[in-house]
Amino acid sequence: MSKYLININGELFDETNALISVFDRGFLYGDSVYEATRTFNRKAFRLNHHLDRLFSSAKKIELSPTLTREEITTQIEKTILASPFENINLRIVLTRGTNSDLGLDPDLSSENNLIIFTKAIPPNPDWWLSDGVSMIFHTKESSHKGPLPKSGNYQENVKAFKEATKRSAFDAIMVSPEGLVLEGTTSNIWLAKNGLILTPPLSDGVLEGLTRKTIFEMALKSEFRIQEQSLTKIDFLSADECFLTSTTRNIVPVTMIEGQKISNGKPGKLTLELLKSYLDYLNLQN
Ligand code: PDD
Repeated sequence: MSKYLININGELFDETNALISVFDRGFLYGDSVYEATRTFNRKAFRLNHHLDRLFSSAKKIELSPTLTREEITTQIEKTILASPFENINLRIVLTRGTNSDLGLDPDLSSENNLIIFTKAIPPNPDWWLSDGVSMIFHTKESSHKGPLPKSGNYQENVKAFKEATKRSAFDAIMVSPEGLVLEGTTSNIWLAKNGLILTPPLSDGVLEGLTRKTIFEMALKSEFRIQEQSLTKIDFLSADECFLTSTTRNIVPVTMIEGQKISNGKPGKLTLELLKSYLDYLNLQN
């Protein structure tokens, strides 16, 4: 059985036959936006929020979608139904389109390309919860003010991830040139100190993760004390607990940064309680 089912502009392919033009602007310039979500029992998690973020990312890079929200939704639903798997990873990529030549001018492309990747979602490995993961800090070359678009240009994140792998870490925590801690390469980052759970504000140049957003929403109805605050490397190294969040991984304890243990080097109590409440909250939603 093929691993992927991929929808390209409305047609379904397996991974060997899913091909697009070398003149696609996503390929040439990273001129695209994307979303990553998952399904629970063939229903896309928070699809409306993901589509809001897709359209808002498109606006940030001045990409006027040639497809409507309804057309994109129809294709996503069609792909989910056609998948042989109940629970899948879903990546929705919208590129500015296929260029008529190599020029930069966005008007050289007419229609967007919509590519929807699906594959079975693997469960999180047990050791993430028993041991936690280790991270390094990676200082970004440029600052970005305000919430980040989720564009196809992940060069800085790729560089950070590569550095983490080279140093045998699980992933990297991105830091602004001014020294503010921002996020993981594909996740949001959090710490807990004296019972308070903190994460950097979007205005520091962070992607508005939907797991992050869901945790804030859940906090309104729970005992957890959660807030946004600008944070530095020292805040993280001296935290009681640390964890990362993303739709495909939920909440993952971070127990070491730059080779230094966070507190006693074990997944934190608050982190594990938050994960339990988050999973209960998701079950209520789906
Ligand atoms: N990435 N920050 C960045 C830079 C991300 O790429 C992501 C998600 C997040 C977390 O967002 P969410 O909670 O909506 O998954 C934060 C996904 C997982 C990806 O690119 O595969």
